[in-house]
Amino acid sequence: MDLTVKSVDKQAIANAFGRAASKYDSVAKLQQQTGEYLMELAQAEDIGNRVLDAGCGTGSFSARWKCQGKQVIALDLAEGMLRHAQEQHAADYYLQGDMEHLGLAENSMDLCFSNLAVQWCNDLPSAIQEFYRVTRPGGLIVFSTLAQGSLHELKTAWEQVDDYQHINQFLPMQTILQACTPYRHKLITRQYCQYYPQLLPLLNSLKGIGATHLHHGRQRGLMTRKRLSALAEAYPRNNGSFSLSYQIVFGVIDCDK
Ligand SMILES: C[S@@+](CC[C@H](N)C(=O)[O-])C[C@H]1O[C@@H](n2cnc3c(N)ncnc32)[C@H](O)[C@@H]1O
Repeated sequence: MDLTVKSVDKQAIANAFGRAASKYDSVAKLQQQTGEYLMELAQAEDIGNRVLDAGCGTGSFSARWKCQGKQVIALDLAEGMLRHAQEQHAADYYLQGDMEHLGLAENSMDLCFSNLAVQWCNDLPSAIQEFYRVTRPGGLIVFSTLAQGSLHELKTAWEQVDDYQHINQFLPMQTILQACTPYRHKLITRQYCQYYPQLLPLLNSLKGIGATHLHHGRQRGLMTRKRLSALAEAYPRNNGSFSLSYQIVFGVIDCDK
């Protein structure tokens, strides 16, 4: 099976993130951490003024770039997210669109920045190709994404409760590497772990960041009290806490064209 090409329902993704927009910033701790690191990676290079924040969400990183005097385009699939970004005056321009088909001219950006968004694409190589197309020669692309192994504790626990698919499949590191191979690139992997005293806040935090939409199939079964306690029983504990780990890949691509 070709794992790079998925068949995602973009309207459903837009709806899931749109619903999450109002509470997103209060729960998106992982995105804040990875976004900070991604900014550091981008700032290590001498970049120009025009920044695209692809899959901007509520625009927290668009705003960070804007504060640094950059001219920022905030782009997202979800109208609800974009509206939130606009209310915060996070960027200079707002574009509702798909990062796999960017409605932007080639070579029009100095920096293409995308924090934890490309994992929602159908095809990682085509998203990267689009980033490359719109970034000028000498410009920079930085992105972060989730890799295989993320949420493994939850996956393991669900497997002991039922046979349904509850967790998205994330690309193996090798596949992410292949998508970057045509370009001069650097990949960095980091593991992040979050700890929760109980299972319900852990599940709510995933819901709060819109991450409960599945690429393949549908999540089945209502979360009854009985299922929740079966899941909690099966969940591997870490010093009594419910831990959730994420394998994050950071990509830095130099546009040599
Ligand atoms: C996990 S959020 C990350 C948001 C933001 N980058 C941050 O750091 O907080 C992922 C965002 O990507 C957006 N998204 C998903 N697929 C997309 C696509 N194909 N094109 C544009 N945006 C997309 C979602 O609507 C969501 O706002």
